[in-house]
This record gives sequence, structure tokens and C-alpha cells, in this order.
Amino acid sequence: MDSKKGQEQEIIKKHLLKYFQSNKSAKWFYEEVVKKNNLDLFSLIDHITFRTKQVSGRFAEFSRIGYQPFGKRIESGSWWLQVYRHKDPHSGFPAIVLDQPADGFLTHYHEGGRIIDSWVSAFGDNEIHHTAFKVVNLECATKQFNSRGVPINWESFAEDKNTGLKQVFTIPQKKDGISHTVLELIERPLGCVDLIVGNTNILVSSTK
Ligand SMILES: [Fe+2]
Repeated sequence: MDSKKGQEQEIIKKHLLKYFQSNKSAKWFYEEVVKKNNLDLFSLIDHITFRTKQVSGRFAEFSRIGYQPFGKRIESGSWWLQVYRHKDPHSGFPAIVLDQPADGFLTHYHEGGRIIDSWVSAFGDNEIHHTAFKVVNLECATKQFNSRGVPINWESFAEDKNTGLKQVFTIPQKKDGISHTVLELIERPLGCVDLIVGNTNILVSSTK
């Protein structure tokens, strides 16, 4: 591996290691599944999500290490997101997702924008909100997580009937009494490149 790519990887890994320390479910997964089996961490991750009040500013860190926007921003009522992928499609780097409240979110009927805004006010925008791990079969994976004492938040379950994409969060980890980080499991059918489903507000609402 060239040194530039190594340095770029270290920036993402630094964020991930901090996240693993902040979330018991993620820490268990990292220690017991990834490290013990000597698995390649990046190859297991579908995407990493940060919350921010200004996507354009937050993107600067990732722009410097080779990320670029992937598709148009995705509107979700009171909030929106932008997906970024590394410009080298063979880099193996996970996608980055940045969430931001939409203009006028305070008066929007949906609470997603308020949840994201409050989260950033509490924790800033320099740490991961959630990491999504790829699974072949979401139901089987959640059974394994449950058997290890990692609670799945079924209220967050979201499915796109058109593509077959399925996503679910763990119960939020609290910090200072406030919901902080979650772990996501994602079942992505072959050929499905979307990162979002029509009912994605379910996911955000589950993190309050
Ligand atoms: Fe996600």
C-alpha cells in the first residue's frame, strides 16, 4: 500500500476507533468478530454516518483524502443527506454519509431535523453517529447479535420493497443521558447502490 493511501486510511480508522470506544455493540463487534478473526475492517463496512449542521464545511476533511459526492443530495423532509465515495473505486474505503437538518426544520412536522440538530448541539460534528456493517441476511445477523446480548431496535427497521435493501439500528447508546451512537446492520441486494429507503425517517426517529 502506498503511504498516501495509508495516511488516508488512518484518518478513517481514527474516527472508527473512537466510535468503537463509544458504543458497546460496536466495540463487541470490533473486538470479538473483526479482531479475533483477523478480518479486514473496511471490507465489512457499508457506510459511516456523521451528523452536522453544515455538510459543505464538514465535507472538507473527507475531500482532502479523496472523497467526492456520490449522486445528488437526498431530501427527507426536515433533514437531508449527501453520500460521498472515494474517487478510487478500488480503494476499499467505506462510503461517508453526512446528515444535516433542512432549512425550516424547526417548524417541520417531522422530527428528524430536530433530532439531528440537537445531537450536533450535544456532541459536535466530529464523531461518527453510526457505522453500517454489511450482512448477508439481516434476520440471521440480528439473531446472532441478540444472542450476544446486543439489543436490536426493531422500531428502526426500514425496508425498500423495490430493491430489497434492509436496514436496522441497535438501541442507542446513551452518553450523559442523551442518545449518542448506534450500530447499523444493512442487507444490500446485489446491484443496489442506494443508501436510503423511502421510510428512512423511521431510522432517524429511532435514535432520539
Ligand atoms: Fe446508515
